Amino acid sequence: MPDISDLSPSDAAKLAASRAAVKLVRDGMKLGLGTGSTAVIMVRVLAERAAAEGLTLRCAATSKATAELATSLGLRVENLDDIGWLDMTIDGADEVDPDLNLIKGGGGAHLREKIVARASDRMVVIADPGKVVETLGAYHLPVEVIPFGWKVTERLIREALDAQGLGKRPILLRQRDGRPFQTDEGNLILDLSLEAIADPHRLARGLSDIPGVVEHGLFLGICDLAIIGQPDGNVTLLRSEAAEGDLDPVLDAGENA
Ligand code: 5RP
Repeated sequence: MPDISDLSPSDAAKLAASRAAVKLVRDGMKLGLGTGSTAVIMVRVLAERAAAEGLTLRCAATSKATAELATSLGLRVENLDDIGWLDMTIDGADEVDPDLNLIKGGGGAHLREKIVARASDRMVVIADPGKVVETLGAYHLPVEVIPFGWKVTERLIREALDAQGLGKRPILLRQRDGRPFQTDEGNLILDLSLEAIADPHRLARGLSDIPGVVEHGLFLGICDLAIIGQPDGNVTLLRSEAAEGDLDPVLDAGENA
C-alpha cells in the first residue's frame, strides 16, 4: 500500500480503518471479504499482512470483483458453503447510524454482502467519516429485484412507501454504461431516494414482504463494530454490546494505531 500521506483524505481514512480492521485477523480465521473501494483497500492490507506473517486464512468474497482481487493477491477464496461459517466479515458501508444500522449496496453487492455478514460471528464495518449519519436515508436505498415483472415490483414498492408516509420519492433503475445494471446474481437494482428513514425496521419489513424484492440494503442489527478511519491515520470506534469483550483487547491495542 502507498504511504498514507500520499493518499487523498478519503482514501487515507479508508486505509486507516482497513489497517485497524486487519489487526483483528488471527491465523486460521475464516473471513468474509466485502465489496467496494474501502473493501479493496482492506483486501490489499490483508493480503500484505497474510503474506508477511504466513497466515493461513480461508476467505469468502461478497462479489466476483472481490473474489478476483483477493485471489490475484494470493488470498485463498472459497465458496461460502464450502467454508460453512465465518469468524468475521469486514466490509464497507454507504451509511452508518449511531445504532450501527447501515445502508449498503452502493456497489450493488448487498445481497451477497448480507448473506456473508449473517454467516459470520462478527461483522466489522470500515468507513471514512463521511459515512457516519444520525439518521439513515440521505444515501439512496438500493433494493435488488428480479428482472421478471420488475415494473410491477417497483409499483408495489411505491405503494409500500406511500403506506409508510414516505411519499412520492424518486425510484431509479440503476444503470451502468447506458444499460440496466446487473448484479452478480443477474438481478436489477432500484435506488430509492428517501432522504430520511424514520423507522428502518418497519421499512425493511415492508420491502421484504414484496414478491420480486430479493434484498434491500438496510443492514439492521447485523454490524457489531464500525471502525471509522480518519485522514490523519487515527480511527474511532462505534461498537455494539456484542462486540464488547472479545474484540476489546485487540481494539484497544489497535486504536489510534
Ligand atoms: C457495495 C457496498 C459497499 O460496501 C458500499 O457501497 C461502500 O462502498 P465504498 O467503500 O466504495 O464507499 O455496500 O455493495
